[in-house]
Amino acid sequence: RIVYLNGAWLEEADAKISIFDRGFLFADAIYEVTAVIGGKLIDYAGHAARLQHSTTELGIRCPLDPDALLAVHRDIVLRNAVDEGLIYLQISRGAADRDFAYPENTTPTLVLFTQAKPVLNNPRIKTGISIATLPDWRWERRDIKTVQLLYPSMAKMEAVNRGADDAWLVEDGFVTEGSAATAHIVTRDGTLVTRPLSNAILHGITRASIIDLARNAGIAVEERAFTVDEARAAAEAFITSATNFVLPVVRIDGQTIGDGVPGPISKRLRAAYIESRL
Ligand code: PDD
Repeated sequence: RIVYLNGAWLEEADAKISIFDRGFLFADAIYEVTAVIGGKLIDYAGHAARLQHSTTELGIRCPLDPDALLAVHRDIVLRNAVDEGLIYLQISRGAADRDFAYPENTTPTLVLFTQAKPVLNNPRIKTGISIATLPDWRWERRDIKTVQLLYPSMAKMEAVNRGADDAWLVEDGFVTEGSAATAHIVTRDGTLVTRPLSNAILHGITRASIIDLARNAGIAVEERAFTVDEARAAAEAFITSATNFVLPVVRIDGQTIGDGVPGPISKRLRAAYIESRL
């Protein structure tokens, strides 16, 4: 792979960053993941806007202006001949002597790489996935897409150890979101229920697109928190993310959701999303 590091295009083995990088020592870094289908960037404007939010909230300077950032995204797809997969972007505050208080003048580290992944033909789309619920032990600024991913990673591993495919995180009895995806349910009267935006969840780009598509298709949407019990009794459940688009959930903590197969509204929204973005 050809990767991007601070203005240079390098073979991945030649891309090196300092052991004093605050991304490495303090998880003092933010990231974005954008899907690529047929060489095309999916929902790029949303990812660029959220990147801006993350860097602003942490006072990290993005080294490239919006046009240059888009050009680098397009270039990395071409250089790696990515047909279907993702672009990972990370900006850390940069290297400094290890100190909890950081200096003002660090030079940010900007990294991009690509990864091939079957987004359209993931075999899980036909079967749906199973979820285990776990407590949400992350910090309270989940609207910032930081690389503090240890807890989501531990939660997903625990879900897998319990025989599930992924974790949904729960706080005060309500589902916040998945380990790396937005959580949604569909009630028995066909209403899409998804948690409202706040600092408790990442403001999913795919979430926003799906809400628009649902409203345009005449599907009722309620932005409110839902409990694990409500999810277990729902007609349908699904997750959304840049790397999964819409992925049906057919089991939560061993309880079958609906008929135990991907439901009609999940399938419809997935098809509508793909059709509108390609
Ligand atoms: N994760 N919530 C969390 C905690 C996430 O990490 C993600 C994305 C989402 C979905 O957001 P979006 O629709 O904008 O991708 C929700 C990415 C894909 C990842 O960490 O790989």
